[in-house]
Amino acid sequence: MAAERSIARAAFAKINLDLRVRGVRPDGYHELHTTFQSIALADALTFTHAAGPFHIVCDDPRCPTDRRNLVWRAAELVWKAARRRGAPREAIVTIAKRIPMQAGLGGGSSDAAAALRALAVLWGVKLARDRLHRMAAAIGADVPYFLEGGTVRGLDRGDRLVRLADIPRAWVVLVVPGFGVSTKEAFAWWDHDGQAGQAGQARLAMHAARDGQEGKNKSSNDLQAVVARRHPLVTTLVEALEHHGAFQASLSGSGSAVFGLFTRKFEAERAARALAGARRQVLITRTLGRAECRRLAAK
Ligand code: C5P
Repeated sequence: MAAERSIARAAFAKINLDLRVRGVRPDGYHELHTTFQSIALADALTFTHAAGPFHIVCDDPRCPTDRRNLVWRAAELVWKAARRRGAPREAIVTIAKRIPMQAGLGGGSSDAAAALRALAVLWGVKLARDRLHRMAAAIGADVPYFLEGGTVRGLDRGDRLVRLADIPRAWVVLVVPGFGVSTKEAFAWWDHDGQAGQAGQARLAMHAARDGQEGKNKSSNDLQAVVARRHPLVTTLVEALEHHGAFQASLSGSGSAVFGLFTRKFEAERAARALAGARRQVLITRTLGRAECRRLAAK
C-alpha cells in the first residue's frame, strides 16, 4: 500500500435514539440495547507524516493530547499492527474539536475510529474489517460504531452491531449543559440506583396507570433518570424540548447533552432560540444517513 503524506478526516458525532440497560455483565460492563444515529456535527482531524515522536495537537485546551486521548490508543494499536517497535513515531495528528466533550456524543470515540483508518493508510498497513473492528472495540465500547456510521443497533457492550436502514431525515437541537458526565460514573450511578430505581419505576408506573398516562414519564434512555437525579436540569431541558415541539427528546448516551428531534427546520430554530441560556451551548444540526456520513468523512 502506498504511504500518503497527509490525510484529512471529519469524525462525526452520534446521538442515541434509544438506550436500554439490560443488566451487568460478568466483565463489569453493562449489557445494552441501543440505537446509534450519526449527526452532522464533526471534529476535523488531519494526520500528517512527519519525522519524530507521534504527537497530538488540539485547539481545545480541555482536550488531553497525551495517552488519555483515544487517538493515542488508536495510534499504539496501528503502530503495533504495522509491526513497528517501541512508541509510535512519524505522525502528527491535529484535532479541531467541535464535538462537546463529556456530552454523550461520542467525540473521543469517533476521533479514535477515524485515527485507526487514517493511520493505517499513513503507515502503510492493511487492516481487514474484522481486525479493525476488534481494535476499535479494544479502545472503547462505542468505537466500532464509528467505523459504520448512520443508524445502527448496538448490542452487548454496544459493540455488537446490526446496521439498520436510515431513519427519515430529522433536524436535531442539541443542548449541552455547563457540566459534563463521565460514562463510567453514569453506569456506576445506574448500579447504585438499581434497587431504588426499580422500586421507583414500579411506583411511577402505578401512578401513571392510575392517572391514565402510561409511558408519559418513561424516557427512551435508561440512563436519563439516574443522570437527572444528580442533574435535575436534564429533565427540565427534555421537557422544554418536548414543549417546543420535538417529536422525541432525551439524554444522549450517558449525557450531559440532551437532544430534540424535529421534522421542520423552523421548528428546530424556534426551539433552539427558546432554550438558549448563558451556561449552556445550543446547537442545531441534522441526522446523517450512512452513505452521506461516509462520503463527508473523507471530503
Ligand atoms: O468502553 P468505554 O471505555 O468507552 O466505557 C467507559 C466506561 O463506561 C467503562 O469503563 C464502563 O464503566 C462503562 N460502560 C459500561 N457498559 C457499557 C459501556 C461502558 O459499564 N456497555
